[in-house]
Amino acid sequence: MSLLIKNGRIITATDDYVGDVFIDGQTIHTVGKNLAVPADRTIDASNRLVIPGGIDPHVHMELPFGGTVSSDDFKTGTIAAAFGGTTSIIDFAIQYKGKTFKETLDDWDSRAGPKCAIDYSYHLAVTEYQPHHEKEFAEVVDRGIPTFKIFLAYPGVFMIDDTTMFRVMQSAGAAGGMTLVHAENGVAIQQMIENLVKAGKMEPKHHAQSRPPTMQADGVARALRVAEVAKAPVFIVHVSCEAAMNEIVRSRDEGNPSFGETCTQYLFLDETYYDKPDFEGAKYVFTPPLVAKENIEPLWKGLKLGYLQEVSTDHCPFHFKGQKELVRGDFRKIPNGGPGVEDRVSLIYHGGVVERGMSLNKWVDLVSTASSKMFGMFPKKGTIAPGSDADIVIFDPSKERTLSAKTHHMNCDYSLFEGMRIKGYPETILSRGKVIVENNEYKGNPGEGKFIKRGRCARL
Ligand code: URP
Ligand code: ZN
Ligand code: ZN
Repeated sequence: MSLLIKNGRIITATDDYVGDVFIDGQTIHTVGKNLAVPADRTIDASNRLVIPGGIDPHVHMELPFGGTVSSDDFKTGTIAAAFGGTTSIIDFAIQYKGKTFKETLDDWDSRAGPKCAIDYSYHLAVTEYQPHHEKEFAEVVDRGIPTFKIFLAYPGVFMIDDTTMFRVMQSAGAAGGMTLVHAENGVAIQQMIENLVKAGKMEPKHHAQSRPPTMQADGVARALRVAEVAKAPVFIVHVSCEAAMNEIVRSRDEGNPSFGETCTQYLFLDETYYDKPDFEGAKYVFTPPLVAKENIEPLWKGLKLGYLQEVSTDHCPFHFKGQKELVRGDFRKIPNGGPGVEDRVSLIYHGGVVERGMSLNKWVDLVSTASSKMFGMFPKKGTIAPGSDADIVIFDPSKERTLSAKTHHMNCDYSLFEGMRIKGYPETILSRGKVIVENNEYKGNPGEGKFIKRGRCARL
Protein backbone atom coordinates (compact mmCIF):
# COMPACT_ATOMS: atom_id res chain seq x y z
CA MET A 1 0.00 0.00 0.00
CA SER A 2 1.38 3.43 -0.94
CA LEU A 3 0.09 6.76 0.28
CA LEU A 4 0.76 10.34 -0.78
CA ILE A 5 0.14 13.20 1.66
CA LYS A 6 -0.04 16.37 -0.42
CA ASN A 7 0.35 20.08 0.30
CA GLY A 8 0.79 19.83 4.06
CA ARG A 9 2.98 22.14 6.15
CA ILE A 10 5.66 19.64 7.13
CA ILE A 11 7.10 20.38 10.55
CA THR A 12 9.97 18.47 12.12
CA ALA A 13 12.20 19.58 15.00
CA THR A 14 14.23 21.52 12.44
CA ASP A 15 12.19 21.94 9.21
CA ASP A 16 9.12 23.92 8.25
CA TYR A 17 7.95 23.89 4.61
CA VAL A 18 4.93 23.05 2.48
CA GLY A 19 5.42 19.79 0.62
CA ASP A 20 4.39 16.21 -0.01
CA VAL A 21 5.24 12.94 1.75
CA PHE A 22 5.25 9.71 -0.23
CA ILE A 23 4.90 6.57 1.87
CA ASP A 24 5.66 3.16 0.48
CA GLY A 25 4.53 0.42 2.85
CA GLN A 26 5.52 1.17 6.42
CA THR A 27 8.18 3.81 5.84
CA ILE A 28 8.58 7.25 4.31
CA HIS A 29 10.02 6.95 0.81
CA THR A 30 10.31 10.56 -0.42
CA VAL A 31 9.66 14.02 0.94
CA GLY A 32 9.56 16.90 -1.54
CA LYS A 33 7.57 19.49 -3.43
CA ASN A 34 4.93 18.63 -6.03
CA LEU A 35 5.74 14.93 -6.01
CA ALA A 36 4.26 13.33 -9.12
CA VAL A 37 4.20 9.71 -8.02
CA PRO A 38 1.29 7.29 -8.41
CA ALA A 39 -0.07 6.16 -5.03
CA ASP A 40 -2.85 3.85 -3.87
CA ARG A 41 -4.28 6.71 -1.87
CA THR A 42 -3.77 10.48 -1.76
CA ILE A 43 -4.65 12.65 1.25
CA ASP A 44 -4.90 16.41 0.79
CA ALA A 45 -3.28 18.07 3.81
CA SER A 46 -3.75 21.70 2.71
CA ASN A 47 -3.96 24.04 5.71
CA ARG A 48 -2.82 21.23 7.98
CA LEU A 49 0.43 20.60 9.84
CA VAL A 50 2.13 17.30 9.03
CA ILE A 51 4.23 16.20 11.98
CA PRO A 52 5.97 13.02 13.18
CA GLY A 53 3.80 10.88 15.45
CA GLY A 54 3.95 11.79 19.12
CA ILE A 55 6.03 9.72 21.52
CA ASP A 56 4.91 9.47 25.15
CA PRO A 57 7.87 7.98 27.03
CA HIS A 58 6.15 7.68 30.41
CA VAL A 59 2.90 5.72 30.70
CA HIS A 60 1.55 2.94 32.91
CA MET A 61 -1.05 0.75 31.20
CA GLU A 62 -2.88 -1.89 33.27
CA LEU A 63 -0.47 -1.33 36.15
CA PRO A 64 -1.32 -3.15 39.38
CA PHE A 65 -0.84 -0.31 41.90
CA GLY A 66 -2.39 0.97 45.11
CA GLY A 67 -4.54 -2.13 45.58
CA THR A 68 -6.12 -1.88 42.13
CA VAL A 69 -5.09 -1.76 38.45
CA SER A 70 -4.79 1.31 36.22
CA SER A 71 -7.96 1.45 34.17
CA ASP A 72 -6.51 1.71 30.65
CA ASP A 73 -5.10 -1.57 29.42
CA PHE A 74 -2.66 -1.75 26.50
CA LYS A 75 -5.60 -1.82 24.08
CA THR A 76 -7.75 1.05 25.34
CA GLY A 77 -4.74 3.14 26.35
CA THR A 78 -2.96 2.88 23.02
CA ILE A 79 -6.16 3.52 21.02
CA ALA A 80 -6.68 6.66 23.12
CA ALA A 81 -3.05 7.62 22.53
CA ALA A 82 -3.59 7.23 18.78
CA PHE A 83 -6.65 9.50 18.85
CA GLY A 84 -4.45 12.11 20.49
CA GLY A 85 -1.66 11.89 17.91
CA THR A 86 0.70 9.66 19.88
CA THR A 87 2.02 6.72 17.86
CA SER A 88 4.64 5.32 20.26
CA ILE A 89 4.60 4.79 24.01
CA ILE A 90 7.17 3.64 26.53
CA ASP A 91 5.60 1.86 29.50
CA PHE A 92 7.41 0.65 32.64
CA ALA A 93 7.96 -3.09 33.11
CA ILE A 94 8.11 -3.48 36.89
CA GLN A 95 10.35 -6.17 38.33
CA TYR A 96 8.46 -7.98 41.08
CA LYS A 97 10.51 -9.42 43.92
CA GLY A 98 12.32 -12.64 43.02
CA LYS A 99 11.97 -12.10 39.27
CA THR A 100 14.83 -11.89 36.81
CA PHE A 101 14.89 -9.02 34.34
CA LYS A 102 14.12 -11.48 31.55
CA GLU A 103 11.04 -12.82 33.34
CA THR A 104 9.87 -9.26 33.95
CA LEU A 105 10.20 -8.26 30.30
CA ASP A 106 8.66 -11.51 29.05
CA ASP A 107 5.70 -10.82 31.33
CA TRP A 108 5.28 -7.28 29.93
CA ASP A 109 5.64 -8.60 26.36
CA SER A 110 2.78 -11.00 26.97
CA ARG A 111 0.57 -8.18 28.27
CA ALA A 112 1.40 -5.55 25.65
CA GLY A 113 2.07 -7.56 22.48
CA PRO A 114 -1.45 -8.82 21.74
CA LYS A 115 -3.15 -5.52 22.57
CA CYS A 116 -1.08 -2.50 21.49
CA ALA A 117 -2.60 -0.39 18.73
CA ILE A 118 0.61 1.64 18.31
CA ASP A 119 4.31 0.85 18.65
CA TYR A 120 5.61 0.38 22.16
CA SER A 121 8.58 -0.23 24.40
CA TYR A 122 9.28 -0.31 28.14
CA HIS A 123 11.77 0.99 30.62
CA LEU A 124 12.78 -1.76 33.06
CA ALA A 125 11.92 -0.72 36.63
CA VAL A 126 14.41 -2.44 38.93
CA THR A 127 13.11 -3.04 42.46
CA GLU A 128 15.69 -5.59 43.60
CA TYR A 129 19.35 -6.12 42.71
CA GLN A 130 20.81 -9.54 43.51
CA PRO A 131 24.32 -10.53 42.28
CA HIS A 132 22.83 -12.55 39.40
CA HIS A 133 21.14 -9.42 38.03
CA GLU A 134 24.48 -7.80 37.18
CA LYS A 135 25.00 -9.63 33.91
CA GLU A 136 21.39 -9.07 32.96
CA PHE A 137 21.85 -5.33 32.37
CA ALA A 138 23.75 -5.96 29.12
CA GLU A 139 21.17 -8.56 28.07
CA VAL A 140 18.38 -6.02 28.56
CA VAL A 141 20.24 -3.39 26.52
CA ASP A 142 20.85 -5.99 23.77
CA ARG A 143 17.14 -6.78 23.79
CA GLY A 144 16.54 -3.14 22.77
CA ILE A 145 15.79 -1.67 26.18
CA PRO A 146 18.54 0.80 27.13
CA THR A 147 16.64 2.45 29.99
CA PHE A 148 16.28 1.34 33.60
CA LYS A 149 14.09 2.94 36.23
CA ILE A 150 14.33 3.22 39.99
CA PHE A 151 11.94 4.63 42.57
CA LEU A 152 13.12 6.67 45.54
CA ALA A 153 9.49 6.73 46.70
CA TYR A 154 6.72 4.30 47.72
CA PRO A 155 8.51 2.55 50.63
CA GLY A 156 7.54 -1.10 50.95
CA VAL A 157 6.29 -1.19 47.36
CA PHE A 158 8.80 -0.04 44.74
CA MET A 159 11.35 2.01 46.73
CA ILE A 160 14.99 0.91 46.59
CA ASP A 161 17.81 1.90 48.96
CA ASP A 162 20.88 3.97 48.11
CA THR A 163 23.10 0.90 47.64
CA THR A 164 20.73 -0.37 44.99
CA MET A 165 20.51 3.10 43.42
CA PHE A 166 24.27 3.28 43.08
CA ARG A 167 24.58 -0.25 41.71
CA VAL A 168 21.75 0.16 39.19
CA MET A 169 23.21 3.43 37.92
CA GLN A 170 26.67 1.93 37.62
CA SER A 171 25.54 -1.29 35.94
CA ALA A 172 23.12 0.48 33.60
CA GLY A 173 25.82 2.97 32.61
CA ALA A 174 28.43 0.25 32.10
CA ALA A 175 26.00 -1.62 29.83
CA GLY A 176 25.51 1.53 27.73
CA GLY A 177 22.16 2.38 29.27
CA MET A 178 20.62 5.20 31.28
CA THR A 179 18.79 5.23 34.63
CA LEU A 180 15.47 7.01 35.04
CA VAL A 181 14.60 8.08 38.57
CA HIS A 182 11.36 8.81 40.36
CA ALA A 183 13.11 11.17 42.75
CA GLU A 184 11.63 12.13 46.09
CA ASN A 185 12.77 11.64 49.68
CA GLY A 186 10.53 8.63 50.28
CA VAL A 187 11.63 8.12 53.88
CA ALA A 188 10.99 11.69 55.06
CA ILE A 189 7.70 11.73 53.17
CA GLN A 190 6.62 8.56 55.00
CA GLN A 191 7.21 10.35 58.30
CA MET A 192 5.27 13.40 57.12
CA ILE A 193 2.38 11.13 56.11
CA GLU A 194 2.34 9.59 59.58
CA ASN A 195 2.38 13.05 61.21
CA LEU A 196 -0.58 14.19 59.09
CA VAL A 197 -2.54 11.04 59.88
CA LYS A 198 -1.89 11.45 63.62
CA ALA A 199 -3.28 14.98 63.34
CA GLY A 200 -6.41 13.61 61.63
CA LYS A 201 -5.50 15.22 58.29
CA MET A 202 -6.69 12.62 55.80
CA GLU A 203 -8.12 14.57 52.84
CA PRO A 204 -6.80 14.53 49.24
CA LYS A 205 -5.05 17.89 49.81
CA HIS A 206 -2.97 16.26 52.55
CA HIS A 207 -1.45 13.99 49.91
CA ALA A 208 0.12 17.15 48.47
CA GLN A 209 1.08 18.47 51.89
CA SER A 210 2.91 15.23 52.65
CA ARG A 211 5.13 15.58 49.57
CA PRO A 212 6.32 19.21 49.38
CA PRO A 213 8.55 20.40 46.48
CA THR A 214 11.58 20.48 48.82
CA MET A 215 11.35 16.71 49.27
CA GLN A 216 11.27 16.27 45.50
CA ALA A 217 14.26 18.59 45.06
CA ASP A 218 16.06 16.62 47.77
CA GLY A 219 15.45 13.31 45.95
CA VAL A 220 16.54 14.82 42.64
CA ALA A 221 19.73 16.27 44.14
CA ARG A 222 20.60 12.93 45.74
CA ALA A 223 19.97 10.95 42.55
CA LEU A 224 22.07 13.38 40.51
CA ARG A 225 24.96 13.29 42.99
CA VAL A 226 24.93 9.50 43.14
CA ALA A 227 24.84 9.30 39.32
CA GLU A 228 27.78 11.66 39.26
CA VAL A 229 29.94 9.31 41.34
CA ALA A 230 28.59 6.28 39.46
CA LYS A 231 29.71 8.14 36.31
CA ALA A 232 26.45 7.32 34.60
CA PRO A 233 23.72 9.23 32.75
CA VAL A 234 20.53 9.90 34.66
CA PHE A 235 17.05 11.08 33.69
CA ILE A 236 14.62 12.49 36.26
CA VAL A 237 11.00 11.65 35.50
CA HIS A 238 7.93 13.79 36.16
CA VAL A 239 9.60 16.97 37.43
CA SER A 240 6.76 19.08 38.80
CA CYS A 241 8.43 22.08 40.42
CA GLU A 242 11.06 24.72 39.85
CA ALA A 243 13.21 23.63 42.81
CA ALA A 244 13.65 20.12 41.38
CA MET A 245 14.30 21.45 37.88
CA ASN A 246 16.98 23.77 39.24
CA GLU A 247 18.86 20.76 40.61
CA ILE A 248 19.03 19.33 37.08
CA VAL A 249 20.23 22.67 35.74
CA ARG A 250 22.96 22.76 38.39
CA SER A 251 24.08 19.24 37.56
CA ARG A 252 24.13 19.91 33.81
CA ASP A 253 26.07 23.12 34.41
CA GLU A 254 28.66 21.02 36.20
CA GLY A 255 29.00 18.95 33.04
CA ASN A 256 27.07 15.84 34.05
CA PRO A 257 24.81 13.88 31.68
CA SER A 258 21.67 14.80 33.66
CA PHE A 259 18.29 15.10 32.00
CA GLY A 260 14.62 15.41 32.85
CA GLU A 261 11.02 15.69 31.79
CA THR A 262 7.89 17.31 33.05
CA CYS A 263 4.29 16.21 32.39
CA THR A 264 1.26 17.99 30.96
CA GLN A 265 -0.58 18.18 34.28
CA TYR A 266 2.23 20.20 35.90
CA LEU A 267 2.15 22.70 33.01
CA PHE A 268 -1.56 23.53 33.41
CA LEU A 269 -2.84 22.64 36.90
CA ASP A 270 -1.92 23.68 40.42
CA GLU A 271 -2.50 22.64 44.04
CA THR A 272 -5.84 24.46 44.32
CA TYR A 273 -7.42 21.52 42.48
CA TYR A 274 -7.18 19.53 45.73
CA ASP A 275 -9.77 21.86 47.26
CA LYS A 276 -12.56 20.58 45.00
CA PRO A 277 -15.60 19.48 47.04
CA ASP A 278 -17.03 15.97 47.42
CA PHE A 279 -13.66 14.25 47.44
CA GLU A 280 -13.08 15.34 43.82
CA GLY A 281 -9.58 16.45 44.82
CA ALA A 282 -8.79 12.71 44.66
CA LYS A 283 -8.85 12.97 40.87
CA TYR A 284 -5.58 14.92 41.14
CA VAL A 285 -3.90 12.55 43.56
CA PHE A 286 -0.82 11.47 41.69
CA THR A 287 2.84 11.62 42.59
CA PRO A 288 4.51 14.07 42.60
CA PRO A 289 1.42 16.10 43.47
CA LEU A 290 0.34 19.39 41.93
CA VAL A 291 2.21 22.33 43.42
CA ALA A 292 1.84 26.11 43.75
CA LYS A 293 0.90 28.02 40.59
CA GLU A 294 4.20 29.93 40.72
CA ASN A 295 5.93 26.81 39.35
CA ILE A 296 4.04 26.69 36.06
CA GLU A 297 5.82 29.44 34.10
CA PRO A 298 9.32 28.33 35.23
CA LEU A 299 8.55 24.83 33.89
CA TRP A 300 7.48 26.25 30.50
CA LYS A 301 10.62 28.38 30.51
CA GLY A 302 12.69 25.31 31.39
CA LEU A 303 11.30 23.51 28.35
CA LYS A 304 12.03 26.47 26.11
CA LEU A 305 15.62 26.77 27.34
CA GLY A 306 16.32 23.03 27.29
CA TYR A 307 16.58 22.57 31.06
CA LEU A 308 14.04 19.76 30.61
CA GLN A 309 14.10 17.68 27.44
CA GLU A 310 10.55 16.52 26.79
CA VAL A 311 6.95 16.35 28.03
CA SER A 312 5.31 13.04 28.95
CA THR A 313 2.02 12.31 30.72
CA ASP A 314 2.77 9.68 33.39
CA HIS A 315 -0.60 8.34 32.20
CA CYS A 316 -1.80 6.05 35.01
CA PRO A 317 -5.59 6.41 35.13
CA PHE A 318 -7.98 5.24 37.80
CA HIS A 319 -11.72 5.86 37.61
CA PHE A 320 -13.15 8.26 40.17
CA LYS A 321 -16.19 6.03 40.69
CA GLY A 322 -15.25 2.55 41.83
CA GLN A 323 -11.54 3.21 42.23
CA LYS A 324 -10.48 6.60 43.71
CA GLU A 325 -13.69 7.34 45.62
CA LEU A 326 -13.76 3.98 47.39
CA VAL A 327 -11.27 5.24 49.93
CA ARG A 328 -12.88 8.50 51.08
CA GLY A 329 -11.32 9.74 54.28
CA ASP A 330 -7.84 8.29 53.81
CA PHE A 331 -5.58 9.97 51.27
CA ARG A 332 -2.95 7.22 51.76
CA LYS A 333 -5.22 4.71 50.05
CA ILE A 334 -6.19 6.77 46.99
CA PRO A 335 -4.55 5.05 44.00
CA ASN A 336 -1.87 7.43 42.71
CA GLY A 337 -2.19 8.43 39.07
CA GLY A 338 -4.26 10.23 36.46
CA PRO A 339 -5.25 10.05 32.77
CA GLY A 340 -3.49 12.07 30.08
CA VAL A 341 -2.03 10.11 27.17
CA GLU A 342 -4.67 11.38 24.72
CA ASP A 343 -4.31 15.09 25.41
CA ARG A 344 -0.55 15.69 25.43
CA VAL A 345 0.21 16.59 21.80
CA SER A 346 -2.70 19.04 21.64
CA LEU A 347 -2.10 20.53 25.09
CA ILE A 348 1.53 21.33 24.34
CA TYR A 349 0.46 22.86 21.02
CA HIS A 350 -2.16 24.98 22.78
CA GLY A 351 -0.15 25.94 25.86
CA GLY A 352 3.14 26.25 23.99
CA VAL A 353 2.50 27.46 20.45
CA VAL A 354 -0.87 29.22 20.82
CA GLU A 355 -0.53 30.73 24.28
CA ARG A 356 3.22 31.25 24.65
CA GLY A 357 4.55 31.72 21.11
CA MET A 358 6.63 28.54 21.13
CA SER A 359 7.93 27.62 17.66
CA LEU A 360 6.27 24.73 15.86
CA ASN A 361 9.70 23.07 15.68
CA LYS A 362 10.08 23.19 19.45
CA TRP A 363 6.60 21.75 19.88
CA VAL A 364 7.46 18.80 17.64
CA ASP A 365 10.73 18.36 19.50
CA LEU A 366 9.01 18.26 22.90
CA VAL A 367 6.25 15.84 21.92
CA SER A 368 8.22 13.56 19.61
CA THR A 369 11.79 14.14 18.44
CA ALA A 370 13.54 14.69 21.76
CA SER A 371 12.09 11.46 23.17
CA SER A 372 13.08 9.51 20.07
CA LYS A 373 16.67 10.71 20.57
CA MET A 374 16.81 10.48 24.38
CA PHE A 375 15.41 6.97 24.39
CA GLY A 376 17.20 5.48 21.39
CA MET A 377 14.63 5.54 18.58
CA PHE A 378 15.91 8.25 16.23
CA PRO A 379 15.61 8.49 13.21
CA LYS A 380 13.27 5.49 12.95
CA LYS A 381 10.82 7.50 15.05
CA GLY A 382 10.52 11.22 15.73
CA THR A 383 11.00 12.76 12.31
CA ILE A 384 9.70 12.94 8.75
CA ALA A 385 12.52 11.78 6.51
CA PRO A 386 13.17 9.07 3.91
CA GLY A 387 13.59 5.73 5.68
CA SER A 388 11.81 6.74 8.88
CA ASP A 389 8.71 4.88 10.01
CA ALA A 390 5.64 6.52 8.51
CA ASP A 391 4.20 7.49 11.92
CA ILE A 392 2.53 10.75 10.97
CA VAL A 393 -0.05 13.12 12.41
CA ILE A 394 -2.06 15.42 10.17
CA PHE A 395 -2.94 18.20 12.58
CA ASP A 396 -5.57 20.89 12.17
CA PRO A 397 -3.99 23.93 13.86
CA SER A 398 -7.13 26.06 13.98
CA LYS A 399 -9.90 23.71 15.10
CA GLU A 400 -11.12 24.61 18.58
CA ARG A 401 -12.60 22.09 20.98
CA THR A 402 -13.32 21.39 24.64
CA LEU A 403 -11.50 18.61 26.46
CA SER A 404 -13.90 16.34 28.34
CA ALA A 405 -14.34 12.82 29.66
CA LYS A 406 -17.55 12.77 27.60
CA THR A 407 -15.57 12.78 24.36
CA HIS A 408 -12.16 11.35 25.23
CA HIS A 409 -11.23 7.74 24.46
CA MET A 410 -9.26 6.99 27.61
CA ASN A 411 -10.90 4.41 29.87
CA CYS A 412 -11.31 6.86 32.71
CA ASP A 413 -14.51 8.48 33.91
CA TYR A 414 -12.96 11.93 34.35
CA SER A 415 -10.55 14.26 32.58
CA LEU A 416 -7.86 16.22 34.39
CA PHE A 417 -8.60 19.02 31.93
CA GLU A 418 -12.41 18.88 31.94
CA GLY A 419 -13.93 21.87 30.20
CA MET A 420 -10.66 23.34 28.94
CA ARG A 421 -11.05 25.07 25.55
CA ILE A 422 -8.06 24.40 23.34
CA LYS A 423 -7.00 25.07 19.78
CA GLY A 424 -5.57 22.30 17.59
CA TYR A 425 -6.74 18.81 16.69
CA PRO A 426 -4.91 15.64 15.59
CA GLU A 427 -7.16 14.81 12.65
CA THR A 428 -5.61 11.86 10.84
CA ILE A 429 -3.10 9.47 12.37
CA LEU A 430 -0.79 7.04 10.60
CA SER A 431 1.10 4.25 12.28
CA ARG A 432 3.83 2.79 10.05
CA GLY A 433 1.98 3.86 6.89
CA LYS A 434 -1.48 2.71 7.91
CA VAL A 435 -4.23 5.23 8.66
CA ILE A 436 -5.38 4.19 12.14
CA VAL A 437 -7.51 7.22 13.05
CA GLU A 438 -9.60 9.23 10.61
CA ASN A 439 -12.93 11.09 10.85
CA ASN A 440 -12.84 10.53 14.62
CA GLU A 441 -12.90 6.76 14.08
CA TYR A 442 -10.34 4.11 14.97
CA LYS A 443 -9.46 2.13 11.82
CA GLY A 444 -6.70 -0.13 13.12
CA ASN A 445 -6.57 -3.42 14.96
CA PRO A 446 -5.23 -3.86 18.49
CA GLY A 447 -2.09 -5.99 18.34
CA GLU A 448 -0.80 -4.24 15.22
CA GLY A 449 1.60 -2.16 17.31
CA LYS A 450 5.13 -3.53 17.28
CA PHE A 451 7.81 -3.64 19.95
CA ILE A 452 10.40 -0.94 19.21
CA LYS A 453 13.93 -2.32 19.56
CA ARG A 454 15.73 0.75 20.86
CA GLY A 455 19.39 1.66 20.55
CA ARG A 456 21.70 3.97 22.48
CA CYS A 457 20.28 7.01 24.29
CA ALA A 458 21.49 10.34 22.94
CA ARG A 459 22.78 12.97 25.34
CA LEU A 460 20.72 16.05 24.49
O1 URP B 1 1.05 8.91 40.65
C1 URP B 1 1.73 8.36 39.79
N1 URP B 1 2.64 9.06 39.19
N2 URP B 1 1.50 7.08 39.47
C2 URP B 1 2.27 6.28 38.61
C3 URP B 1 3.53 5.76 39.23
C4 URP B 1 4.61 6.80 39.22
O2 URP B 1 5.09 7.20 40.27
O3 URP B 1 5.05 7.22 38.15
ZN1 ZN C 1 6.81 8.06 39.53
ZN1 ZN D 1 5.08 7.08 36.29
